[in-house]
Amino acid sequence: MPENSNLDAAAEILAGSDRVTVLTGAGISTDSGIPDFRGPQGVWTTNPGAAAMFDLDTYMSDAEVRREVWQMRRAHPAWTAEANDAHRACTELDRAGRLRALITQNVDGLHQAAGTDPEHVIEVHGTVLWVVCMACGLRTRAPEVLARLDDDPDPRCLECGGIQKSDTISFGQQLKPEVLDAAVEATRDCDVFLAVGTSLAVHPVAGLCDLAVERGASLIIVNAEPTPYDAAADVVLDDPIAQVVPALVEAVPGVKGAGAG
Ligand SMILES: NC(=O)c1ccc[n+]([C@@H]2O[C@H](COP(=O)([O-])OP(=O)(O)OC[C@H]3O[C@@H](n4cnc5c(N)ncnc54)[C@H](O)[C@@H]3O)[C@@H](O)[C@H]2O)c1
Ligand SMILES: [Zn+2]
Repeated sequence: MPENSNLDAAAEILAGSDRVTVLTGAGISTDSGIPDFRGPQGVWTTNPGAAAMFDLDTYMSDAEVRREVWQMRRAHPAWTAEANDAHRACTELDRAGRLRALITQNVDGLHQAAGTDPEHVIEVHGTVLWVVCMACGLRTRAPEVLARLDDDPDPRCLECGGIQKSDTISFGQQLKPEVLDAAVEATRDCDVFLAVGTSLAVHPVAGLCDLAVERGASLIIVNAEPTPYDAAADVVLDDPIAQVVPALVEAVPGVKGAGAG
């Protein structure tokens, strides 16, 4: 990393914290080959029509849309993606006992793949690794459902025949209250709130930054583009995530290879 006084300031804040809540967005996984939504190469930026496919009412009422979405799910980069240094740095923070929780808007499962304790990961927008029946709630591992697609392009629930969907939060779908509650709790209860790779444009998750600041936590934002919360942050870092996050975490006492004790 080049010399960067903001980085030093953020590292000092992080090193003094023993309850860090990290919020991640699509930007932490772009280096793993998963495009974000709103960055320059983002899915919505390059193909604005794609957003309509992920509207809940459209999905439930239109079998043609479901068939297309299932094909997109089968082609999802998450099936071959590997965690990167930023995901691994979050795991180091967890192993050092400093991670209060890792709230992620990502649906790719890469934090768990990197070894972060699954009990510390709060997936506010769900996961593509599981499929849920919209009628009876049965959850099935996604590969089992995707394996049926060649014979059955809109695969129904094997228990009840209901419409199935990736266990992700679609547009027009409420977040799961217990999951949102856990995210709010982890935000109220942290001393540093570290937002990484998120445009902080999607509510209610973005509002967690306000809550963290109200509760007296320091706010550190790592994101290439400006966010609506930059003015509220103690430090903003716009360098590449896969460099910044490991550099920050290395400064934390108890982290493998950390100089500070
Ligand atoms: N990996 C995934 O699981 C994935 C991928 C795309 C979208 N999503 C979904 O998209 C929604 C989008 O919200 P969001 O805020 O997470 O994503 P977003 O696309 O709105 O914002 C991502 C931000 O990350 C920044 N960024 C990207 N790569 C970076 C890098 N290497 N270094 C520094 N900054 C970088 C971009 O500038 C952008 O501002 C979420 O609801 C999430 O569920 C998930
Ligand atoms: Zn069912």
